[in-house]
Amino acid sequence: MRSSEELILNAIYARRSIRKFIQGKPVERNKLETLLRAAMAAPSACNIQPWDFIIIEDEESIRALQDGIDQYAKYNPTVIIVICGNNEFIPWKDYGVVDCACAMENIMIAAPAIGLGTVCIGGFDRRKVKEQLAIPEDIEAVGMLYVGYPDEEKQPRTKYIEEAVHWGKYDGKRTRKPRPGNILEFGPEASL
Ligand SMILES: Cc1cc2nc3c(=O)[nH]c(=O)nc-3n(C[C@H](O)[C@H](O)[C@H](O)COP(=O)(O)O)c2cc1C
Repeated sequence: MRSSEELILNAIYARRSIRKFIQGKPVERNKLETLLRAAMAAPSACNIQPWDFIIIEDEESIRALQDGIDQYAKYNPTVIIVICGNNEFIPWKDYGVVDCACAMENIMIAAPAIGLGTVCIGGFDRRKVKEQLAIPEDIEAVGMLYVGYPDEEKQPRTKYIEEAVHWGKYDGKRTRKPRPGNILEFGPEASL
């Protein structure tokens, strides 16, 4: 039997960006609810919970939405979840974004446990997406997650690098080497 420590850490490491989904295999409503329950277990500054979640399931709406999404995100999700931050409830805007990011990470970690894959999408035109989803002016489209049954396999892993760790205080003398990703390779190439 695996220890709960192993199980939890493995769940974290198993979250990988999935960009190929099984075409035509719908995600059951109860699984989506499981993801949303995980999302809403996230920490939130002053417990304000500024988030709202828009779930887009039908193919036509997904395709329409992808008009406002850039070339690095033209994949085939079965479901798109748009995470909105309600500014009315957020006296400190940055915290609201952090709250929503925590909720998003919870969804991404919970997904593999129920056989699903996700990828976080940043490459979208917020104005256009807001318009398409009728998101009110004062509500922000903070993030987007693609969800579906994975059609690719990725190994669990951490991206631990020694250089990112400073014990006690920031080590200013340390050479700042570029990290493995590439700002111009926003999509799949960034995560090889
Ligand atoms: C805020 C944010 C925005 C992202 N936007 C995109 C995107 O638009 N398209 C994409 O293919 N991947 C996107 N990703 C996924 C990253 O490319 C991916 O997390 C990274 O390459 C590391 O791979 P891993 O998730 O498998 O660990 C985004 C991730 C984050 C956190």
